[in-house]
Amino acid sequence: MSKTIIISNRLPVQLEIHNNEIKTTPSVGGLATGMKSVHSGSNDLWIGWSGLTDENIPKNLEEKIDTTLKDHGCAKVKLNAEEVDGFYFGFSNRTIWPLFHYFLEYSEFELNNWEIYKAVNQKFADAIIAKADDDDIIWVHDYQLMLVPQMVKDKKPDISIGFFLHIPFPSYEIFRTLPWREEILRGLMGSDLIGFHTYDYERHFLSSVRRLLGLDVSFNEVHIENRIVKVDSFPMGIDYKKFSEAGKANSLNITENQSDFQQRLNAHKESTKDAKLILSIDRLDYTKGIAKRLNAFEYFLNKHPEYKEKVRLIILAVPSRSNVPQYQLLKKEVDELVGRINGEFSTVNWTPIWYFYRSMPFENLIDLYTSCDIAWLTPIRDGMNLVAKEYIATRTDKTGVLILSEMAGSANEMNESLLINPNNFEQTVAALQQAINMPVEEQQERNDILQKRLERYNVEKWANDFINSLKEQKENSISYVSK
Ligand code: ADP
Ligand code: F6P
Repeated sequence: MSKTIIISNRLPVQLEIHNNEIKTTPSVGGLATGMKSVHSGSNDLWIGWSGLTDENIPKNLEEKIDTTLKDHGCAKVKLNAEEVDGFYFGFSNRTIWPLFHYFLEYSEFELNNWEIYKAVNQKFADAIIAKADDDDIIWVHDYQLMLVPQMVKDKKPDISIGFFLHIPFPSYEIFRTLPWREEILRGLMGSDLIGFHTYDYERHFLSSVRRLLGLDVSFNEVHIENRIVKVDSFPMGIDYKKFSEAGKANSLNITENQSDFQQRLNAHKESTKDAKLILSIDRLDYTKGIAKRLNAFEYFLNKHPEYKEKVRLIILAVPSRSNVPQYQLLKKEVDELVGRINGEFSTVNWTPIWYFYRSMPFENLIDLYTSCDIAWLTPIRDGMNLVAKEYIATRTDKTGVLILSEMAGSANEMNESLLINPNNFEQTVAALQQAINMPVEEQQERNDILQKRLERYNVEKWANDFINSLKEQKENSISYVSK
């Protein structure tokens, strides 16, 4: 029986070692949370990095680590500290991540990191080659592994390979600045199908393929030697049922079943009846626009002092990539901004911002989604942004207002939310006012449409569409060659 092999840098669980014991925690981030819902674990295999470096793994735990991962349907690629540094913190997150999110000035072009990226991609490819049979389907994920498709194709030319990019693909003018641009494109072209979240990313990619590799692109197919590579957009959905059911269970309001966190949120809502809770949830990443959002909030309070004590902003920022200097600087900036705004506006009865810098268990995430009147998600650039979709899915009574950046991939499918340009503070302030004062009927009308769409285009449909399209492409490619 053929199997699907998922391969990504991040596995659905992260391993840590405490007192010679293995601890597993669920991974945060769109790729891990989304793919987790479609990874059956039975016949499929998910290959990736465990989160531990070779230096951190005690000899006596090696076997146990493998069985722990196996229980989650996973297998590991071993990486040492130098590899993690050059491949993950280096080339992936100091070169590609900023460049593909249009933060050109943050992008570092270090030859040594590129060399390590290539070597580590080869390690991932070798792990696939060792485990894959010819009738298996290989699904490679994200910017950390862009060379893997061609590396696998070189050794297993007949195997089906799909690649999905979870971040934006930038315009040609940005992409062309990368010193290793042709190598990256050639690596991706080892796939039979390449998927993006939006049509714009697909268009940018095809433009780079045409202009940099000089390949023949017709519509969304690229002709390369004796093969056709299909390029298409597949906007990633969420596990709608999981989020809507969690929202329903949460809003049943049975006090004994409520978490301590939920009870505190409810008590707060009771004591501040007319006040609105505004929620902002992101990994602490400069692409998410957290600092800009805080500046906009300060601007809002200055411009509209009548909302003092009438709104509270809850900022949940998940620690991310903290070895990269830009992330350390951002942490400092956000800490200072929160301190300054709270210092400036707090009263005896009111603190304008509650700030949490940590990951939270799923239940608490749901508590926040269901308790907050407004979700304010304004990335400066974001491949998709699943948090926006999750917030809407949990709103069982269809109330709640989503303010979403038009720079998020999800904005394409969420026209009924209040879409804003995060750089436009006047528009942001107007959206906040509109959200605070939006009649319940209007909220329900907008969310009804959004929920139906999210339910239809859920993560399972996304994965099935991708896999079916890959199978179809493989068949077409075979008949193209035999002609
Ligand atoms: P990204 O992939 O860039 O991190 P997304 O919004 O697409 O952004 O995905 C973030 C995912 O991480 C969501 O599925 C969300 O549920 C999860 N998540 C976000 N914040 C937290 C948190 N504090 N604790 C646990 N999971 C979180
Ligand atoms: O959604 C984009 C993404 O890069 C995912 O690929 C990744 O899982 C997530 O952000 C979190 O990043 P990291 O794996 O570096 O923690």
